[in-house]
Amino acid sequence: MHRNLFAPGLALALFLAPATHAQPSDRPPAAVPGETTLPQGVALGGAFSLTDQAGRAVADGDLRGRWALLYFGYTSCPDVCPTELQTMAAALDALGPELGARVRPVFVTIDPERDTPERLADYVALFHPQLIGLTGSAAQVAQAARAYRVYYARARPGDGGGDAYLMDHSSFIYLLDPDGGVRALFRPGTTAENLAAALRRRLP
Ligand code: NI
Repeated sequence: MHRNLFAPGLALALFLAPATHAQPSDRPPAAVPGETTLPQGVALGGAFSLTDQAGRAVADGDLRGRWALLYFGYTSCPDVCPTELQTMAAALDALGPELGARVRPVFVTIDPERDTPERLADYVALFHPQLIGLTGSAAQVAQAARAYRVYYARARPGDGGGDAYLMDHSSFIYLLDPDGGVRALFRPGTTAENLAAALRRRLP
């Protein structure tokens, strides 16, 4: 259950991006397949306050100082979330230990009701030792999702009923620069090789 469409606001932001004012040095690198490159200064992202898999408070400012890959999903996702997290992990590994250590991979749940810090701790460990898992109250998660224009909603309950429900959600990997600015989005299915290439071009 994944929506690949941009939220209307994001599409608008992309249209309004002042491309003609970009200086040569601001020009984004050529995009790899699956990538939408955003010019510096596009207003996407913003303040959030969440809790990591160890129970520590993590705010948007804590992600600054390094490049980051940010993905919103949920641990009960049967297909796309695990695939995308594997792609992120494989891209970091492809960069090698030195470059890979300079990128912070982050998974934010859009299912805070089930995704407790404990559950996230077990889940992120399946993918990559650097992967940070973030959750929070329903309101905190909603604020983070709103900042990145992530769509999510609970889908119809499965036949099992009770706790067995799916979440419908948009599925992009966001590339954040060390100042927290979103510099690129990667569509589901972007390969680890291409994601690594997009990172390698930007890491000085
Ligand atoms: Ni998913």
